[in-house]
Amino acid sequence: MHLDNPGLLKTRAFIGGVWTDAAAGDQFPVLDPATGVVVDSVADARASDALAAVNAAAAAQASWAATPPRKRARMLEAWHSLIRANESDLAIIMTREQGKPNAEAIGEIRYGAEYVKWFAAEALRVYGETIPPATSNTRIVTIRQPVGVVAAITPWNFPMAMIARKVAPALAAGCTVVCKPAEDTPLSALALAALAEDAGFPAGVFNVLPTSRPAEVGSVLTSSPIVRKLSFTGSTEIGKLLMRQSADTVKRISLELGGNAPFIVFDDADLEAAVTGAMQAKFRNAGQTCICANRIFVHRPVHDEFAKSLAARVGELVVGDGSKTGVQIGPLINGDALEKVDHLVSSAVSAGARVVTGGRRHELGKTFYEPTVIADVAPDWDLATEEVFGPVATLIPFESESDVISMANDTRYGLAAYFYSRDVARAWRVAEALEYGMVGINTGTISNPAAPFGG
Ligand code: SIN
Repeated sequence: MHLDNPGLLKTRAFIGGVWTDAAAGDQFPVLDPATGVVVDSVADARASDALAAVNAAAAAQASWAATPPRKRARMLEAWHSLIRANESDLAIIMTREQGKPNAEAIGEIRYGAEYVKWFAAEALRVYGETIPPATSNTRIVTIRQPVGVVAAITPWNFPMAMIARKVAPALAAGCTVVCKPAEDTPLSALALAALAEDAGFPAGVFNVLPTSRPAEVGSVLTSSPIVRKLSFTGSTEIGKLLMRQSADTVKRISLELGGNAPFIVFDDADLEAAVTGAMQAKFRNAGQTCICANRIFVHRPVHDEFAKSLAARVGELVVGDGSKTGVQIGPLINGDALEKVDHLVSSAVSAGARVVTGGRRHELGKTFYEPTVIADVAPDWDLATEEVFGPVATLIPFESESDVISMANDTRYGLAAYFYSRDVARAWRVAEALEYGMVGINTGTISNPAAPFGG
């Protein structure tokens, strides 16, 4: 891989400010999902490396907490500038290990960098409160203190932005961090650590542990009494496990465990805008986002017109290796992901769903899947109840506002929802009736560093 700044390609763990091999000397391969070829091999951290990282973070904690907020902010600003200055290289690394098209990878770097910038500013605004006392000779004042060492376990679908979203606020608040990136995408995390080192963060403030043994490393992070807070993005199953494991040390935890976002198109919507919004909400990162439009509910009177316009746009999407110019849809992350998508679509077709476009593994082979629109899906089929995590737009017709709200809320997920309508009263009513943490009204893009993210 050619990089302008070859120093960004790191293959060792970053512990206590030192690039270090795993104690046991093991390495694991990182694969390019577009070709199946090994991109590089990285240090395979085990429990002893995780302990070393936790201890390094603990050793740095007191002085980092005591570092004046303006100084912390300046380091975050420097990190932000370095990320932006190296965005082309960071995007090349990301495309190679994650598969997303290069233009999208650059978009993610810029999006992630915005978190660093935003929280650099927030470092200066960690305000406390004064509270009126009951007596005249006392005052009540609250101050905010850093919680301590934070463990950040991050996913492969946004190898840079999800680290930025977790790590930047922790560093801004005066917490030190141990980050365990997903085993599919450690190189982006290590490149970020290289830039954090250049930005001047002291040794031990930000540590990165690549590993192919997430359970072993995760259990050190969750059982350690030194780690005070855990932030995790990933599957519900693993999130529950981490929550249980964190109970003994009574950690604070923040979990983002996926979604099953409804995307509702009412008959009073601007249909062209709704199609554009659906393309954005569904096909970003080949459909591998937690906030993806997983179920597209379309009001019966506009259903066929919407399906036809959406299928026309979907049929034009260019599929291929994300490092090639013009590609819009890259491969799925691995063979298991492909199997899951293929199985969900073929089961729906066997049950009577209608493929409007796509609906098969792509002729490129490997883990490529055709961008798909599939209609006449029943809301209780697996295709609509499970997170598809692939380039498949699932259309479900509906008859009335009340019906669609109950179908949309009939899921254990609650991360994101979207709807299109030009009726202002309906906009308020539906936004409040949808039981979701984030609701996009007449937009398919809701991620923003200034907005809370969560369900
Ligand atoms: C996700 O859905 O996994 C994250 C998406 C985002 O931050 O926009």
